[in-house]
Amino acid sequence: MNVLDEMNDLQSDLAQVIRLALGEQTDDVRLFVARLVRKYRAAAPELAEQMDLYLRSKAPRSSAPLRKTTTQRMTSEEALPMDDESRLSLLKVFQDSPDREQPLLSVELEESLNQLIQERRQIERLASMGLTPTRSAIFVGKPGVGKTLTARWLAAQLGVALYVLDLTAVMSSLLGRSGNNLRAALDFAKRSPCVLLLDEIDAIAKRRSDDTDVGELKRLVTVILQEVDEWPATGLLLAATNHPELIDPALWRRFDLVIEFKLPELPAVKAAIKRFLGPDYALFGRWIDILAFAFNGESFSDIERDIQRFRRAVALGTASDSDLIEEFIKSRVLALDHQGRIDMAVLLAKQTRLSQHSISEITGVSRDTIRKYSAEQSPEPRKTPRRKHDA
Ligand SMILES: Nc1ncnc2c1ncn2[C@@H]1O[C@H](COP(=O)(O)OP(=O)(O)OP(=O)(O)O)[C@@H](O)[C@H]1O
Ligand SMILES: [Mg+2]
Repeated sequence: MNVLDEMNDLQSDLAQVIRLALGEQTDDVRLFVARLVRKYRAAAPELAEQMDLYLRSKAPRSSAPLRKTTTQRMTSEEALPMDDESRLSLLKVFQDSPDREQPLLSVELEESLNQLIQERRQIERLASMGLTPTRSAIFVGKPGVGKTLTARWLAAQLGVALYVLDLTAVMSSLLGRSGNNLRAALDFAKRSPCVLLLDEIDAIAKRRSDDTDVGELKRLVTVILQEVDEWPATGLLLAATNHPELIDPALWRRFDLVIEFKLPELPAVKAAIKRFLGPDYALFGRWIDILAFAFNGESFSDIERDIQRFRRAVALGTASDSDLIEEFIKSRVLALDHQGRIDMAVLLAKQTRLSQHSISEITGVSRDTIRKYSAEQSPEPRKTPRRKHDA
């Protein structure tokens, strides 16, 4: 299809949506959008996913008079369970294309995940030997290290949808109803092959301290305990937490697999910087070692946030790359101990054209010290800059 045809096609789709929407033909809009989701899934997966989310977040109004043909076609798309009172959807859906980029993972992590995927792909072979695949796993790790992202990628690799259970929505439901809500959501997920993620599963445990009915929370934990035990091998049940110590030991024991997500090491930090810079790597590439050193010990999402900030500033011309890096290093240096500052200063001396005077100004390390250390043979900076609070 040439560009012009594609434009016309897009335009006519747009016009059709507008026509239906202005005519308040909500059900027709839904049908048409469902068709668009299928149509654009291959060519524009992000768009398709977004439309799909809109579709699912707005359940069809049951009171709306449906035409007969509409009703028949609608049943294929089962509405997501939601809390009757708040109308909050209990599950979020992600349907990603399998060629979605793989998250940056450590070697061990990649191996565990590949094992999981292989088990699913060869489920019959396992069955012939009387074995079932791993049915449940719990992801543990600090915020922003890729737990949710990996769940999405995993589901896409397995060719199924990812449902994420919003425990906050479950628990915000009225007293006595959260157990039912939880069951409704879990039953829904059990009906089709999918990956279900119980995100921030520690949320239940955290609520123990406040005034929520203790009996209610116990019921929730009991529901989850049973479900983990009985989860069908057609689905994969995942949970994620950054507070493993808060998880009920009885629940903890029930997961087939514990997968630990660590903060990225130096090579992964570098890879992350490259990935997040995208085309702007051409501009920032010369700072890569300095950036990697400065970002070491940070989570992927923290790295991404700063990199996006740099890219926006450069795109709008509000700052130059060297201004940004300088200002960034200055802010980082505050968190480093004395040796960390020296390492940073030496790195700047070796890898940039900054004068010793400005390096000294940025890092607070005297020019004498910089000269002394730079003269030493290959003063490899330590792998991880020590932070002040580690001392
Ligand atoms: N391993 C990774 N590879 C590439 N990008 C990552 C990775 N981990 C995190 N990111 C980036 O950070 C964002 C947030 O990551 P994600 O939501 O997966 O973190 P999380 O571990 O689930 O954190 P939380 O505990 O706060 O839920 C991602 O959308 C992605 O842009
Ligand atoms: Mg998460």
